[in-house]
Parts: sequence; structure tokens; C-alpha cells
Amino acid sequence: MFLNTPNSHIILAIDTPDRTSTLHVLDQCYDVVDAIKFNYPLILKEGLSLLTEVKRKYNLPIIADFKVADVPVTNNRIANLVKDAGADAIMVHGFIGSDSILELKEVAGNEMGIIIVTELTSPGGLEFTRQHATQFAELCNFLDCYGIQAPGTRPDQIKALRGIVGSEKVIVSCGIGAQGGQLADAIDAGATFGIIGRAIYEDKHPRAAAIRFQKEVSKHVH
Ligand code: XMP
Repeated sequence: MFLNTPNSHIILAIDTPDRTSTLHVLDQCYDVVDAIKFNYPLILKEGLSLLTEVKRKYNLPIIADFKVADVPVTNNRIANLVKDAGADAIMVHGFIGSDSILELKEVAGNEMGIIIVTELTSPGGLEFTRQHATQFAELCNFLDCYGIQAPGTRPDQIKALRGIVGSEKVIVSCGIGAQGGQLADAIDAGATFGIIGRAIYEDKHPRAAAIRFQKEVSKHVH
């Protein structure tokens, strides 16, 4: 288990602009969310040291949403850097194929989970990757990766992909809140966690926003 057992089912996408705003939001929300997800803009600005600092300070699992999509030699270097920084999971694109994902998995070993992106929630996710989403889910099983990302705005697709990966794999779902996806719908459809960014960190009261999501899902999950 690279992430903890779901409690609030919330992964906070901390796409805040800099270190100060990041710590400001996390100070308010860290005890309501199950994990923290970093993406490129904040890390490109502040460096991977911020990921390490946040992990030490809040003691929460960290997902590096770097959507890795390169050849094995480069993936190897990325995965080593991210693992050394303390990430518990790394997101990678499914379309890079088994050799590139296997390289990441070998570097990750027992310290970091590999989460395969199936399709983006944006319209372009339906353009090319949707046709192969079930294959990406099968690849997750075949390579014994930690889990997949499935679109939180498309509960039917979450359900279909849960049917492929089975009950043991983790499914993380983006698009909750700002893009209209409902956390309870995603969890009902089979997601393990919903990923929520702007709907929490852009709220005037991030903690109150996180608690609203927590309450919404606790009514639905039994
Ligand atoms: P928001 O602010 O939209 O942030 O809650 C979502 C975070 O997840 C990343 N991400 C995705 N977002 N569809 C999304 O809407 C996806 O398929 C997806 N995959 C990852 C996004 O970049 C932001 O960090």
C-alpha cells in the first residue's frame, strides 16, 4: 500500500503558485485529506525540495503527477529523482507502452507506486486515448502496477475500468469540483480517491471546502 486506506477519499492537488501559498493551504487542510498531489508548475518553480519538505512536515502520502511519457533511459532518471525526493506514487502515461512503464516500475521498486493515466478529462482525452483506455487498464494488471487514473467527470468510464482492474488496484479520479465531477459519484462508480485542486485551494476557506467534500462522500460511502 503506497497510499493510506481511504478516509476522506480526497487527494489534494496542490497546484498553488509558490511555497508560501502551498504551506498556507496545507496548514489548513492536511488533516482532512488522504494524500497530496504535486504537478509540474509548482515543482518547476520551487524544486523537488518542496515535495520533500511537505512530506516531512505533514506526513501524508505524496503523488508526483508528472505524467511521465519518455523513453526508458529518461524515465529511469525521472523516477530516481522523484523517488529520492520522497514521493509515494508517480503518474505515467499508458501510451508509452510496456517497456517504458516497466523501467519506471523497476526504479520505483517497493518504495513508489506506478499509476497509469488512461485518459484526460479534457475533451482531447476522448480523441485518441479513449480508444485504448481499456488496454491501459489491462497493462496495469499485466505489469502489476499500483493503479490507474480514470476520469472523475465520466463515472461510467470509471465503472468500466474498475471492472477491468478488479478490486485491488487503486483508481484516482481527476476532474472533481472545478470541472463539475462529483466526488460521491466517482467513488460510487469505483474510484478509490478523487483528486481535487482548485475547488479547495482557490476557495476563500480551503479547510471548509475540504470538509464539505469529506461530508458529501461520507454520506454515500458505506
Ligand atoms: P483541478 O483544479 O482541476 O486539478 O481540481 C486537477 C489536478 O489533476 C491534474 N490532472 C488532471 N486533471 N483531468 C483533470 O482535470 C485529468 O485527466 C487529469 N489528470 C491529471 C491536473 O493537472 C491538476 O493538477
